[in-house]
Amino acid sequence: MNILAEELNKTLSDSVAYGFLSPVGRRMYFPKGIVAQSDEAKEKAKKYNATVGLATRKGAPFYLSDIYSLFREDTLKPAEIFSYAPGGGDKTLRALWKDGLLEKNPSLRGKKFSLPLVTGGLTHAISMVAQLFASEGDEIVCPDLFWDNYDLIFRDLVGAEPHLFPFYGEDGGFNVSGMKEALLSVKGDYARIILNFPNNPTGYTPSETEAREIVDALVSVADTGKKIMVISDDAYFGLFFEESTEKESLFSFLADAHENIFAVKGDAATKEEMVWGFRVGFLTYASKGFTDAHIDALTKKTLGMIRCTVSNCDRPGQSMIVKAMQNGLHYNEDKAAVFTEMKKRYEIVHKAVSKHASESVLTPYRFNSGYFMAFDTHGRDAEELRTYLLDKYQIGVINIMGSTLRLAYCSVEPEGLEELVDTVYKAAGEIWN
Ligand SMILES: Cc1ncc(COP(=O)(O)O)c(C=O)c1O
Repeated sequence: MNILAEELNKTLSDSVAYGFLSPVGRRMYFPKGIVAQSDEAKEKAKKYNATVGLATRKGAPFYLSDIYSLFREDTLKPAEIFSYAPGGGDKTLRALWKDGLLEKNPSLRGKKFSLPLVTGGLTHAISMVAQLFASEGDEIVCPDLFWDNYDLIFRDLVGAEPHLFPFYGEDGGFNVSGMKEALLSVKGDYARIILNFPNNPTGYTPSETEAREIVDALVSVADTGKKIMVISDDAYFGLFFEESTEKESLFSFLADAHENIFAVKGDAATKEEMVWGFRVGFLTYASKGFTDAHIDALTKKTLGMIRCTVSNCDRPGQSMIVKAMQNGLHYNEDKAAVFTEMKKRYEIVHKAVSKHASESVLTPYRFNSGYFMAFDTHGRDAEELRTYLLDKYQIGVINIMGSTLRLAYCSVEPEGLEELVDTVYKAAGEIWN
């Protein structure tokens, strides 16, 4: 059990509530992870706050002008704001999202997959998948650099055991053979894996060649008779900055790859439509062997999960996203502008990091996409560097599991990025050289 959970249990032990705690209740705690570190940075990181996975300019979030302009009277009918949304989400939004999936993932065309269900953000989608398809003692395979909420969801909520493998292989790319080995060594006939590209915290997406290798490796594990559920967490989908990077979700290749592969896609309007506060995500299922009846049954199971967790999801957010996607005057233009801005920041960070290539105190993990980049601290305490940067330089960054330092360049102005990177190296040199 996590030490923070133990502390909370100890505090509660002389209260009437303690005896009521379920096994999940006993395991639950609020992690000192990304959210807690970001809160700390909000107060202290007066110079640069590179903690948050939210794209900002001058401290304010980017947004679609077609959505912002709806925050006036008479732009939406009362029913589009105040009524309940259907359990699985606004039907028009679901259809639009499905069309969008086909447009963004040409390999999905002609393949059978479920109509995306609307969830209360991507976290909710992953959490429901975990509760529907994993239970106490099951292993969940995951690369060792992952979004910290997976721990809370899979380990603490569901009681599953993380089965980690090194994210990067010896050539510095995605560790396909490590992934395959991990899946083959899962006990029993069923293996679960979650893959997140562009990755949080590393900012890495496999190349087209690596993506093909990943799919081939998954198929070869499925050929052994093992059934694999592959959850694609596509939170940062679309932010691909290099020519050779795979631009489609793994889901599109896995949707009809093998009868033993169950492909699950979690994605969200959160970052793709720049509506972090709206809480609108999506969940989509596919498998080579699925019939319409299978898809219908899975959809109903998920509707049940939605019903017993949030009942239904945010109505105003869904209505506004529909309006922007359907009739937005600047929809494509605004999205393209933010993509260009993120690519520019990525290029600046890349250049800034390469200036320090000869310094061994920190090693940047290979990155090519998303909102982030991260450094390997080579076993030195990333928390020490994080707090030093915060206290001495008023710079906020994130410590990931003690030996990785993450920079969210999405929330720092381009003009400051070189200084941010230089200062991180300088600070690391000051405490560790
Ligand atoms: C990898 C990853 N998956 C999922 C999410 C959750 O997204 P949402 O805000 O839609 O719940 C995040 C958000 O930070 C993330 O980084």
